[in-house]
Amino acid sequence: MPKTKTTFFCQNCGTQHSQWVGQCHACKEWNTIVEEVIQKEEKRNWNQQKTTSKRQNRPLKISEIKVNSEERIATLNTEFDTVLGGGIVKGSVILLGGEPGIGKSTLLLQIALGISKNVLYVSGEESESQIKMRAERLQNNQTNCLILTETNTQQIFSSVSEIQPDLLVIDSIQTLHTNSIDATPGSISQIRETSAELIKFAKETATPVLLIGHINKEGNIAGPKILEHMVDVVLQFEGDRNYNYRILRAHKNRFGSTSELGIYEMLSDGLREIKNPSEILISKKDEDLSGIAIASTLEGIRPLMIEVQALVSSAVYGTPQRSATGFNLKRLHMLLAVLEKRAGFKLGAKDVFLNITGGISIDDTAIDLAVVAAILSSNKDIPINPNVCFAAEVGLAGEIRPISKIDQRILEARKLGYKTFVASKYNKITLTDPWVRLILVGKIEEVFATLFA
Ligand code: TYD
Ligand code: MG
Repeated sequence: MPKTKTTFFCQNCGTQHSQWVGQCHACKEWNTIVEEVIQKEEKRNWNQQKTTSKRQNRPLKISEIKVNSEERIATLNTEFDTVLGGGIVKGSVILLGGEPGIGKSTLLLQIALGISKNVLYVSGEESESQIKMRAERLQNNQTNCLILTETNTQQIFSSVSEIQPDLLVIDSIQTLHTNSIDATPGSISQIRETSAELIKFAKETATPVLLIGHINKEGNIAGPKILEHMVDVVLQFEGDRNYNYRILRAHKNRFGSTSELGIYEMLSDGLREIKNPSEILISKKDEDLSGIAIASTLEGIRPLMIEVQALVSSAVYGTPQRSATGFNLKRLHMLLAVLEKRAGFKLGAKDVFLNITGGISIDDTAIDLAVVAAILSSNKDIPINPNVCFAAEVGLAGEIRPISKIDQRILEARKLGYKTFVASKYNKITLTDPWVRLILVGKIEEVFATLFA
């Protein structure tokens, strides 16, 4: 009987160790070494039949390199295309991670069915009939999409060389295994090996590959961290259990910005793209309530109107509680200190709760002013006029600071019917006819003189 060979791998960086150690010497992470059974055969490539590589590379000058204008494939899913920076780049490998049940398979099947290219959708997780049932829910009668239920990469590549798809979708990388090593699917060495084969395939044939990746309990993509370095794009599909909204973000993108964001709503017939997110993020109400302020924020280059809610009440215990959902708690503490010191509002004996509605989290400092306004509105129990929105940063000295892309924010506010826009007087506004009343302020006291006069 052949002796089983085992090796130790670091789950973080994928480094191989000859024995178990507490700390990986390569990445210095603790407790990341796991033992895996491997049985090395001779290395096989995805295209082992061919003896020579298709393309012989030689060093080129930047000026000699031709940029192919046809390099991106549009998916007809505008949110997805936007997050990628304008469609799928040929030969790129895109990794999509997310919690179980968030809709990763649904999103990629929807894209595979919607695109007017030949797609091979490989699933190691579901049977053909399960996929068919899902596709029927999505009501998309695209015929160019082929379904394959297979987990062995050599088998997948033999189907691929037969079909020659324009796009390959793999659900999921953790279910794949290659013949060249003996480790179980989902183990570090299998993930590393199979993804290396897929990446090599993508680069050599210029076929884009979309990979689904499971995430571990810390929220990172399961498998070696090195996987995220190897692929071109890492997308994260997030959402809140209590909402049907799903947010697609790029954590890494070699072909575009990582600040773009796509918003979807999970319906019974699949994911619907939300083109105007401000509408869903602002709750409609008939009466004026205190503690609510509308902020103008930016996600990527996209203006977004969000609702900030605050509740200020007398502290029951000695130390007042402060809690923030969707907003940085440290920043909330800072804003409260500024209010206390610069504007003379005594919030020290009050509990302050802050919430950004819609289950999204914002780290744009332009919502500072809305946060402060919501807190004061709740404290005084005076509602803020629902036609007013805010966009400014608040400094430690109580000064109202300028923010970026103010013109776009004003235009978005106008589009959604806001009548008054509160911003910093130091902001350079180039719009000549903004159609909204601008209140430009320099200090925090001025804001409240105008708001609660
Ligand atoms: P799924 O794509 O299987 O999630 P993942 O691949 O990330 O694990 O999505 C599963 C959930 O989505 C499931 O709870 C049902 C729901 N869903 C809908 O609400 N509408 C639909 O049209 C589909 C296909 C799924
Ligand atoms: Mg799935």
